Amino acid sequence: MAAKILSGKDIAKEIRAELKTEIAELKEKHGLVPGLAVALVGADPASEVYVRSKVKTCERLGVNSIEKRLPADTTEADLLALIDEWNNDEAVHGILVQLPLPKHINEDNVLVAIRPDKDVDGFHPTNVGKMLIGNPYFLPCTPHGCQQILMRSGIETEGAHVVVVGRSNIVGKPVAAILIQKAMGANATVTICHTRTKDMKKHTLQADILIAAAGVPRIIKADMIKEGAVVIDVGVHRIGKTPSGKDKLCGDVDFDEVAEKASAITPVPGGVGPMTITMLMLNTVRSAKMRLEK
Ligand code: GUN
Repeated sequence: MAAKILSGKDIAKEIRAELKTEIAELKEKHGLVPGLAVALVGADPASEVYVRSKVKTCERLGVNSIEKRLPADTTEADLLALIDEWNNDEAVHGILVQLPLPKHINEDNVLVAIRPDKDVDGFHPTNVGKMLIGNPYFLPCTPHGCQQILMRSGIETEGAHVVVVGRSNIVGKPVAAILIQKAMGANATVTICHTRTKDMKKHTLQADILIAAAGVPRIIKADMIKEGAVVIDVGVHRIGKTPSGKDKLCGDVDFDEVAEKASAITPVPGGVGPMTITMLMLNTVRSAKMRLEK
């Protein structure tokens, strides 16, 4: 049996089309243009790619993007001052500081400085807490993207056993928190596996839905999943170049062998990746709309 391919690329396109209409309406009816401010400190090549892609998506959808590139030796105080400026800027609805930050800047200090109602990444402890109790301003983008892929592909999560491999603050922990909620597109029983889990295969074999967010290339093999499982691959790893000189990518899942056993699987690229920026746009639009209600 070959698995159905869950195209995050197509689902992201569908959501962006919906957002484009909403953005046009906001402008027409309320003269409101959602604004996203992005700070990039230093010149990490992967971060450069992400930030460029965020700015491009903003332009396509009609979101105003403010991009601030700061040198690698920027002080924490200077970055905090910029956040303060954006916190108080009416035209800025979403603030994103690209991670990772240079070592001399304390990430926690930066994340708590962003106003929770502008924290479109959903990383502020207030938003993490609000997500956990089921009352979020914003859901973090990658985990929310995973949930949207499941929902929009008609995959039932209610009562399903979801096994998450990975416990990062950006993906593993929040995706589990989202899927255990008493809510549509959730109501799952969730197990989280991590580097100290004993006999990980025993757990992954139980999964109706497996979410791979370990950050290790092709760690999930066919003998670790149940026949007919749904597999969501959050990993992105550069593993060389294609003949045309593009980066060759793979995920945390050994796609070729797992696709033979799963009932549905997200590819890399074209799976979870395109969903992340789309959910960021969704959060920015939601933030702008919240402003109207204030
Ligand atoms: N670096 C890698 N992923 C992310 C993300 O989702 N948000 C931010 N701010 N930085 C990242």
